Amino acid sequence: MASQGWYDADIDHVIITEEQIQAKIAELAKQIVADYAHVDRILLVCVLKGALMFMADFSRALGQQGPPVELEFMAVSSYGQGTSSSGVVRILKDLDRDIAGRHVIVVEDIIDSGLTLSWLLRYLHSRNAASVEVVALLRKPDAIKVPVTVRYVGFDIPNEFVVGYGLDYAEHYREMPYVGVLKAAVYARE
Ligand code: IMP
Ligand code: MG
Repeated sequence: MASQGWYDADIDHVIITEEQIQAKIAELAKQIVADYAHVDRILLVCVLKGALMFMADFSRALGQQGPPVELEFMAVSSYGQGTSSSGVVRILKDLDRDIAGRHVIVVEDIIDSGLTLSWLLRYLHSRNAASVEVVALLRKPDAIKVPVTVRYVGFDIPNEFVVGYGLDYAEHYREMPYVGVLKAAVYARE
C-alpha cells in the first residue's frame, strides 16, 4: 500500500488499492470515449459527496482522450439512518443549468440498493436529457434487486460497508486514496 495516513490504523482490510482504482478509471474512460465517439460534448453529473474523488479522476481521464466535458454537481440525501438507505430522496443541491438535449453521464461512487440512483435517473429524464447513462466505481450485490441500468461499473465488491476514495463513515475516511473495510473496533468507539 503506497499511502500512509492516519486512517491506515483503522482499516481491517483493503478492498481496492489506489493503483487498481486508477487503472480501472483509465479503462472506463477509454470505453466511454469509444461509446461516445458520435457526441460533441459530455455532461458529467457528480452526486456529492461520495463521488467527488471519482469525478475528479474520471473527468481528467476523459479529458485526455474524449470530447469536451462539463461538470455538474448534485447533492441528495436519502432519508435513511446509519449505513442503509431508504429510497426517499431529498435534493440538497440541484443542477445549476438546463440539461435538456444533453448527453449526461451520472458519476456515482457506489451502487448499494440502487434506490438513490433509480430516483435520480427518473429525475434527469424528466429534465429532458438526450441520454442518461451511469458510471459507478463500485457496486454491491444488493444492486441487482432494483431494476436500474448501470452501463459502466468499475468493481463488484462484497456486501460490506466500505470507506475511502470519497466514501465516508460519519464523514470520515473520504480522503483515503484506496477503498477498505473498517475494523470492528471503530464502530465500538461510538
Ligand atoms: P443506495 O441508494 O442504497 O444505492 O446507496 C447510495 C449511497 O449510499 C451511495 O451513493 C453512498 O453514498 C452510500 N453508501 C452505500 N454503500 C456504502 C458503503 O459501503 N460505504 C459508504 N457509503 C455507502
Ligand atoms: Mg453517493
